[in-house]
Amino acid sequence: MRLCMIGTGYVGLVSGVCFSDLGNTVHCVDNDKKKINLLNQGKIPIHEPGLDEILKRNVKQKRLFFTSDLKLAVNKADIIFICVGTPTKKKSNSADLKYVFQVAKKLRKYIKKYRIVVTKSTVPVSTGDKIEKILNSKGRKKIVDVVSNPEFLREGEAIRDFVYPDRVVVGTNSKKANRIMKSLYLPIIKKKSRYFNTSRKGAELVKYASNAFLATKISYINEIANLCEKSGVDIKDISFGMGLDQRIGDRFLRAGPAYGGSCFPKDTKALVDVAKIFKTDLSIVKTVIKSNENRKKILANRVYKILNNKIKNKNITFLGVTFKPNTDDMREASSLLMIPRLSKKGAKIRYYDPTGKKKEFEKFTNVKFCKDLSSACLKTDLIIIHTEWNEFKFLNFKRLVKKKNFIIYDLRNIYSPIKMNQNKIKYFGIGR
Ligand code: UGA
Repeated sequence: MRLCMIGTGYVGLVSGVCFSDLGNTVHCVDNDKKKINLLNQGKIPIHEPGLDEILKRNVKQKRLFFTSDLKLAVNKADIIFICVGTPTKKKSNSADLKYVFQVAKKLRKYIKKYRIVVTKSTVPVSTGDKIEKILNSKGRKKIVDVVSNPEFLREGEAIRDFVYPDRVVVGTNSKKANRIMKSLYLPIIKKKSRYFNTSRKGAELVKYASNAFLATKISYINEIANLCEKSGVDIKDISFGMGLDQRIGDRFLRAGPAYGGSCFPKDTKALVDVAKIFKTDLSIVKTVIKSNENRKKILANRVYKILNNKIKNKNITFLGVTFKPNTDDMREASSLLMIPRLSKKGAKIRYYDPTGKKKEFEKFTNVKFCKDLSSACLKTDLIIIHTEWNEFKFLNFKRLVKKKNFIIYDLRNIYSPIKMNQNKIKYFGIGR
């Protein structure tokens, strides 16, 4: 099939590259010319394992193209995917849909015969109706089917999630559009993924409700971890014991820092906001948002406690600063609150992250990036394991730190407290 992906952010780029790998001809469009130039040189603006190789392979096969010319890309496509960002509006909690509507208005000009327009961007329930109104307005013959097809991929695991999703959700009441979408996804459905056709509004809400539910699961286990710390129980046992119940399931029950990233924080807020329009109080989701914000403060306070409130001139090392491993994404990472707080209190902070230096910390004179683990850990007082990159999982801390008394605060519970105790290393984890 011939596809056009509008927006080369995470969702648009990964989906475009993966769709081309399934044999489709894909034009990826972005109005950021710099980004398009980079992509045309085979350079990828995001850190996503495996994407590079698939992209190059499909460009070579002349199935994958990058352009800033929307009209050209639209003319060459049967299905047009809107994958632009829906960030939180300034000074509000609602999703900013201006990019989505800008694209819809342009499509109105360029689409001349039957096309399917799909929203892959995460949009509040009933946005599809508004897009349809723009595309089929002013007595124009209805030539467009507007479909909702939310994306469920995770950063860092995006390719696997795209090729082997648990489900493909397609929201449309049009039989024709559904038939075409189903055949597009056939290679994926054949690998045992469930295909679920529902109403357009239903699909829009499945996406928000799923993200908010996962955020709730994480916040729940994080609060239970607080109780474990006070009652002398290991949260890992609780997660394991709970996860054995198939009604609960063991995934997304890992206690840690506050959940971050570009999706959970933004989507939980937007869900509460859209519910207000429909006069519905989502009190659970509201509490989750509050609990997650609070978590960042709880963790910073715990660091003060671990250091007996003597923060000034303490050497603190952060291992990993991104919100999760296998991505360079810093959005809503707990480190963004913890590092400035500790720096203000006079700590000397060094950090190492496999994806390099972060502009977010450049303005702090006492926060330094180190190119490797050894220089980050040498003679430090406290190591904070912030992100669970694989390269942090088997470290010999004594050899790295090269001094007697140092402390480890493991926000991802990677290490065993018993072994740390045997090695005479002062160790703190989450919920244990
Ligand atoms: C999330 C969803 O998992 C995807 O299904 C969805 O498509 C995506 O948002 C989106 O809406 O685009 P992502 O934000 O990439 O994906 O990353 P996750 O793996 O879900 O992690 C989110 C946050 O939760 C991270 O800060 C992570 O550390 C935290 N987390 C996750 C935990 O603290 N504990 C867990 O058990 C799992």
